[in-house]
Amino acid sequence: GFNYQVKGDDDYAGLSFGFYNKTCPQLEKIVEDAISSMSKQDPRTPAALLRLLFNDCKVMGCDASILLDVYERSKSEMGSFSNFGIKKRELIGQIKSMVDKVCPNQVSCADILVLAAREAVAVSQGPKIRVPLGRRDSSVAYTNYDADFNLPPADTFIRKSLGFLENLNVGLTIEEQIALLGAHTLGTSHCATIQYRFDAPWIINTDKEFYEKLQKICPKGAASNFNTSLPNDRTPYVFDADIYVESLRGRALLVTDVDLSDDALTAEIAPKFIFNKDLFFKTFSSAFVKLSTADVLTGNDGEIRRQCDKLNGI
Ligand code: HEM
Repeated sequence: GFNYQVKGDDDYAGLSFGFYNKTCPQLEKIVEDAISSMSKQDPRTPAALLRLLFNDCKVMGCDASILLDVYERSKSEMGSFSNFGIKKRELIGQIKSMVDKVCPNQVSCADILVLAAREAVAVSQGPKIRVPLGRRDSSVAYTNYDADFNLPPADTFIRKSLGFLENLNVGLTIEEQIALLGAHTLGTSHCATIQYRFDAPWIINTDKEFYEKLQKICPKGAASNFNTSLPNDRTPYVFDADIYVESLRGRALLVTDVDLSDDALTAEIAPKFIFNKDLFFKTFSSAFVKLSTADVLTGNDGEIRRQCDKLNGI
């Protein structure tokens, strides 16, 4: 398979590649095996975990705060509509238990989430990304307001999407931003999520036949829209460049994806990724590593949670 190393072995936001070499050398293999079997059990797993990482990192950093169930759900990060459709959070806790059997209380939920997301990409025929480790878990929970404020809503246009990636403050280049948005090559979007399209005639670059299909499958206002979902591209289980192809063809679901091939700033980059898979994989890999360093807690900050869905103090 592919093996992309992005940077040298030097310190990365306080993280390092050999962080668990002594305390948990089996870690990466345990996560790899777990994701492999979980993905066989349910093919929606990889997409769910990749989105889970992004939506965690975007709210106060990659600290596993999205996994916390300490408040009433409506008042937690998960209470934000921008987290609608998030699933498989419990898998991180399940992997944590497997890891703790071999190396108790050594590994953070935040690191397991990063490793799970990189395995998610690899198991979907994407690059296997080497990631630095040593993150700590948040020792506080955040709210639905924090998530509302930091996460891009479903109707975010490309320029605003780029702004949301910009203010991760991890130094993503424009190419890396477009590559990271290529994550939508995996998974699905719910009909409820894309309802705005039916009241937004200014969203052009839409294939007529595709639009009519959307109207049929996702009828305006139907209750079923919260359960029905559509694939983001033609190969929702394969990490490839098809999301860019579908964007060019006017067959993307989310407006941010529609615009990928339509916005002057980004239109030149998408075709490069279509015609050069290696370039897409390399650019995505460096973007992924940068994303995974967003506002990380290290050293004695935060905590190593005993259970991923609960703060240690509770
Ligand atoms: C910054 C602009 C972005 C916006 C506006 C956005 C929005 C969305 C929305 C609305 C959904 C569908 C939710 C649903 O209806 O179930 C979705 C799904 C998804 N997003 Fe994003 N997203 C963005 C960036 C990213 C990034 C940077 C990543 C990862 C690196 C990502 C990974 C995913 C994945 C994998 C799915 C499919 C999830 C599944 O099938 O379970 N997104 N996104």
